[in-house]
Formats: sequence, C-alpha cells, structure tokens
Amino acid sequence: MKGIVLAGGRATRLRPLTQITSKQLLPVYNKPMIFYPIETLTKAGITDILIIIAPDYSGQFLNLLGTGEQFGAKFTYEIQEEPRGLADAFIMGEQFIGNDNVTMILGDNIFDYDFTNEISQFDKGGLIFAKKVPDPARYAVVEFDNANNVLSIVEKPENPKSDYAVPGIYLFDNKVSEFAKKVTPSKRGELEIPDVYNQYLERGELKVKTIDCEWEDAGTFNSLLRANNYWAKKIR
Ligand code: DAU
Repeated sequence: MKGIVLAGGRATRLRPLTQITSKQLLPVYNKPMIFYPIETLTKAGITDILIIIAPDYSGQFLNLLGTGEQFGAKFTYEIQEEPRGLADAFIMGEQFIGNDNVTMILGDNIFDYDFTNEISQFDKGGLIFAKKVPDPARYAVVEFDNANNVLSIVEKPENPKSDYAVPGIYLFDNKVSEFAKKVTPSKRGELEIPDVYNQYLERGELKVKTIDCEWEDAGTFNSLLRANNYWAKKIR
C-alpha cells in the first residue's frame, strides 16, 4: 500500500493566514497541520508517501518534511501547478502508484482514528468512509437505503439526502488512475473525487464503512479552531 498526501490548493477561505504560508503548514496545537495526515498514514504502516504541494511555499514543505526519515518514511514530492481538483492526484501519481494499492488522505483532514485494520486488510476495489456530521452540505454526502446499500454520493449537495459525509481518506486499487483520467471538470472547474469512486460504485467494487471518531476538515476558521482545541485537550 502506497500513500498520497494531497496538500496543494490555494486555501482562499483561510486568507489572510494563507498569504504567509500554506494552509497545511498552519499550526494545529503543537505541530503543523500536515503532520496529522502524515502520521495517520505512517501509524497504519504506510511508509512510501507522495506529497503533492502547490508551487507557493513548496520550499517550506521541503525544509520541514525533508526525506521523511523523521517519520520513518520515504517522501516523494510533486508540484501541482494549478488546483485541478482532488482526482488529479491519481493522474499525477500514476507512476508512483504503479502496480500497488494506494491510500490518499487530504492534507487538511485530521482524524483521531487508527486506520491500521482497514489499510492492512484492503485488497482491491475502493473503500471510502462515511461519518455523521451536523453540516453535510460542506462535503460529499452519501445516501444509504434501509439495508445500508449506497444509493448515491454527491459532492456538496444543496439538499443533502443524509447526514453522512465522506471524509478525506480513500483507499483504491491501481485502476484509480485510469478512472481519474475519465473524469471531466465539474461546474466549479475541478476533477471531483466522487466522479472517481462512483466508477467503482457502478462496477459494484466500492465499499463504504461508517466510522465514528473525531474528524475535522480544518479548511475554515471555525474547524481550524476546533481542531486546535481538540488536540490541545487531548495532548496536554
Ligand atoms: O474534507 C472532506 C471533503 O474534502 C470531501 O467530503 C469532499 O468530497 C472533497 O471534495 C473535499 O472537499 P473540500 O471542499 O474540503 O476540498 P478542498 O478544495 O478544500 O481540498 C481539499 C484538500 O486538497 C486541501 O488540503 C487542498 C487540497 N487540494 C485541493 C484541490 C482542489 C489540492 O491539493 N489540489 C487541488 O486541486
């Protein structure tokens, strides 16, 4: 299993903070945000990790993270010139993924959950997660039937059909790059991640696992503050 941490983008929602550095380098209590997703991967046994970053502040990422040795891992870097969307990571990462499976985590997603079992048991197809949230319209939203079968997954729906969001960690086999290349840009001009995993869903190869844990997408002022408070309480 290889790992990708997607840490590019412009983070306009966090301006002016992101006019001095990248979102994923901002502090979450006692360390830069990106340490959390990296450690989520390494804790689960993933040591071969591609880090995708934007051109701005790319030197700061290299200074901070280096070879990956301090995490017991090996880091490779790619620069994403434009924020073309989450699915672009699998196109950029095609050679890196090679014949392996891959877990992608978003650089602003902070979990208090150990994914070791899910990652070590993963064999093929796709595995995504569903987490009950108070504000589903911020995320991709998954709709289930009474027997817990997935009916639909829609990116940021105006009228969410459930309270279950898809958090930013995804496990795929190496068909993912081929599927990502079939995706066309959405109305907001991005290659959307649900367009990738919905291709697994259509083939009957997508599993959705419900998780109940602390999780923040720290991409807004309020969620960043919540993440800081949560980890301050937990670590102090
Ligand atoms: O947090 C979970 C949600 O993350 C999912 O439920 C959504 O399906 C998914 O689209 C995503 O939504 P966001 O609105 O949070 O995506 P955002 O644009 O903030 O990008 C997520 C991370 O990926 C962020 O750390 C920046 C990075 N990124 C984003 C884009 C669009 C890139 O590195 N490159 C990109 O092209």
